[in-house]
Amino acid sequence: MKLAFIALVAIGGVDASPSTCAPCHRAHADAFGESLHQTLLVTGDRRAPTCATCHTAMRARTVSGAQLEASCGTCHPSAAARVESPAAMRSGVDTLDGLRLQCDRLDAAAARIVDPQDKMSVRLALAAARYTISEGVTAVHAFDGERLHERCAAARGQLEAIADALAIAR
Ligand code: HEC
Ligand code: HEC
Ligand code: HEC
Repeated sequence: MKLAFIALVAIGGVDASPSTCAPCHRAHADAFGESLHQTLLVTGDRRAPTCATCHTAMRARTVSGAQLEASCGTCHPSAAARVESPAAMRSGVDTLDGLRLQCDRLDAAAARIVDPQDKMSVRLALAAARYTISEGVTAVHAFDGERLHERCAAARGQLEAIADALAIAR
């Protein structure tokens, strides 16, 4: 309790660097740590983004695809060589939103399955798909658009299989 309080004070105050957020958001902080942005940060390069560049503060809502692309654009103008990277991130994040909606719909359908064994296996498969989606979110933090799209495609495949199974179980 005390530890969480100290950490939250730190967020409200001066330090919004990845190390402030890392204790509670390990996967995203580790992914960020693999990017060149982190290398810049630790060498004291003030041009580098931190967690707060996109999230402002912890209570800030999750970032949309359009906000994300705009945020890359503040440091990487569209004339720059790596324009395709922000665009890939944007479309990936928009895809994640759609996939989560699909999970919610399938969850609702699973709730109506009568057979307990069928219900359990659909719920397990949905948990696996949500995990794949969370790996996509981690890829966002590694600034890895390719992996983001690959995880989205994997999750889409999992959800299609679940929809097929539901059609049979109904
Ligand atoms: C003391 C632990 C702790 C620290 C430190 C912390 N967070 Fe969080 N954060 C949480 C918890 C708990 C949640 C809620 C998780 C959930 O709802 O699944 C959360 C949720 C979030 C969310 C999601 C908000 C939403 O609307 O869904 C974001 C973004 C976030 N934190 C960013 C940050 C950033 C950036 C930092 C560092 C500046 C940070 N957090 C530091 C514990 C922490
Ligand atoms: C370049 C922009 C950017 C930076 C920098 C960034 N994030 Fe995020 N973050 C996002 C986006 C975009 C999402 C939402 C993706 C989605 O789920 O649609 C997100 C989602 C989150 C979430 C909540 C969603 C979840 O499923 O876990 C947490 C927590 C979070 N980020 C923590 C961090 C931490 C910690 C750092 C620093 C190490 C960080 N972020 C740096 C763009 C960023
Ligand atoms: C606060 C400023 C800032 C933001 C925001 C930012 N970057 Fe960067 N980025 C930099 C700097 C500075 C460099 C290193 C100098 C350079 O290569 O331009 C860099 C380098 C990169 C590189 C080169 C990495 C490498 O290994 O060569 C990529 C790719 C990149 N950024 C993508 C992104 C994407 C995608 C976003 C948005 C999701 C983003 N950046 C947001 C400042 C930023």
